[in-house]
Amino acid sequence: MSQREPLILGIESSCDETAAAVVRGGREVLSNIIATQHELHEPYAGVVPEIASRAHIERILPTIREAVREAGLRYEEIDAIAVGHRPGLIGSLLVGVSAAKALAWSLDKPLIGVDHIHAHLYAGLLEDEPVTFPALGLVVSGGHTSLFLMKDFERIRVLGRTIDDAIGEAYDKAATILQLGYPGGPRLDKLAQLGDDEAYELPVSMLERNSLDFSFSGLKTALLYAVCGKPEGRGSSARMPRDASSLSDLEKADFAASFQRAAAQAIVRKLRRAFKQHKVKTLLTGGGVTANSRLRHELEQMAAQRGLDLRLPRMEFCLDNAAMIAGLAAERYRAGAFDDWTLAASPRSETVSS
Ligand code: KG4
Ligand code: ZN
Repeated sequence: MSQREPLILGIESSCDETAAAVVRGGREVLSNIIATQHELHEPYAGVVPEIASRAHIERILPTIREAVREAGLRYEEIDAIAVGHRPGLIGSLLVGVSAAKALAWSLDKPLIGVDHIHAHLYAGLLEDEPVTFPALGLVVSGGHTSLFLMKDFERIRVLGRTIDDAIGEAYDKAATILQLGYPGGPRLDKLAQLGDDEAYELPVSMLERNSLDFSFSGLKTALLYAVCGKPEGRGSSARMPRDASSLSDLEKADFAASFQRAAAQAIVRKLRRAFKQHKVKTLLTGGGVTANSRLRHELEQMAAQRGLDLRLPRMEFCLDNAAMIAGLAAERYRAGAFDDWTLAASPRSETVSS
């Protein structure tokens, strides 16, 4: 790579990972440091926003220092500071945005604010070749399940999104129903590999005929009733007749495999529908659930059948990370599209709806 390729420090703090990374030229990842907070949120079986922001404050500076050190650089050698500034938990985002502004100001370097969802779509380009547009983009994470039509990384249109739970949220709730602990997605994935995916028939929601929206709450409720039985009584006195502790290990694995099959099918069938409506040959994917073994396998099969350029992120770039932030920021750096000190954290993405 030529020496003029920009060296960008990326910062990510939108949810429960404090992350910093240095990426050269949008592709070459020189460091990718992730300080996870899972142990802090585990007792609550979900992310507690106040705990998350406090932990970001404690971890952000050591994480940034480690990323710069591991990249073998001095701060002055970095060309720009990029930060995921939306969407996410506002208190968490503010920590990353404040750190990025302080660094950019003190080093006299440009500041680049990046949309976290768009960065997930970029993750499959890290350590890989550029792609041809237009493309379909799929983000499947704990907070989002969305399908996009992309002319490039600046012109992104929402084709569909979940009308209830995000797929990662459904995975985490399914894991809670099966008493697998937190975070549930990876544990359910592991257990599913020991089970029979046809043991239980769970619903695959497709919504109306041409809809590209997703729905996962029906699948989650079907699993709840299959494992625990239908609730007895009404309102606050309603009780589930049993729980997952009455299941054998094999039964749990069968439920996990059957859930995973239905969840992956919901994504793949919706993608087939999207490819009928939009003649594109590139599929960019990202978000924590792209780490799921079943979904990866099915997406690879679909790409092989259709001759798609499928970009599944490497495992270390599936979950929240800062390499994807620094990578996407290189596009903005080349265009000279920098932010000023008014860059604000925002809980929402500003991607245009269809
Ligand atoms: O992208 P991410 O780190 O955070 C958000 O932006 O939301 O995604 C986290 C989500 C969690 O719901 C987690 O359970 C899920 O990704 N996840 C998985 C797997 N690894 C992480 N879900 C299914 N299978 C996995 N292997
Ligand atoms: Zn994410």
